Amino acid sequence: MEEVNDKKENDRTRIAVFASGSGSNAENIIRHFNRPGSRAEVALVVCNRPDAQVLQRAARLGVPAEVITRAQLNDEAFMGGMLDRYGIGFIALAGFLLMIPSWLVRRFDGRMVNIHPSLLPKYGGKGMYGRHIHEAVVAAGETETGITIHFVSDACDEGGIVFRTSMPVSPSDTPDDVERGIHALEKEHYPVVIERLLRD
Ligand code: GRF
Repeated sequence: MEEVNDKKENDRTRIAVFASGSGSNAENIIRHFNRPGSRAEVALVVCNRPDAQVLQRAARLGVPAEVITRAQLNDEAFMGGMLDRYGIGFIALAGFLLMIPSWLVRRFDGRMVNIHPSLLPKYGGKGMYGRHIHEAVVAAGETETGITIHFVSDACDEGGIVFRTSMPVSPSDTPDDVERGIHALEKEHYPVVIERLLRD
């Protein structure tokens, strides 16, 4: 019996979180998984901006981080080698602003997800990130918005949808109000959805 448990512990899926900015989702995912008894752990944070706050968060939480350039991300030998070295089996994008190259999409087919702060396909695609989305939602007078967690494909924000949930938007809500609500939804659901995918 003990052997089985040991094996499970050693078999923990090693997750890489890719983030470019503040990293509040990255921190939330790390806190969710990096505890005893968890079936997975965040083993690496990948970031393309040396000044991003996510790097401080990773350091504080004791998770290794690698800062990469766009060229390195696109370089299969370099990036694939790095992911292999860390034994990465699953990738979660959390506010990562570079396009994922095709070779990486293929290599992590069904094992790489992104979170988008709108009800895709609404407010997705080029230029639709962060506050731009919440401003557009308010400007359009939407009565609801939400989050979408989807597999990563070659087309921006268009991979198969894994999970979506909504929240109401009232006429008096500002983009800041919407952003607060969206962040709360992200915190509540992203780690749990990743955990479910790892179990299936
Ligand atoms: C989140 O709203 C996420 O949905 C989007 O980028 C934002 C990242 O925020 N893809 P943070 O860096 O995790 O705080």
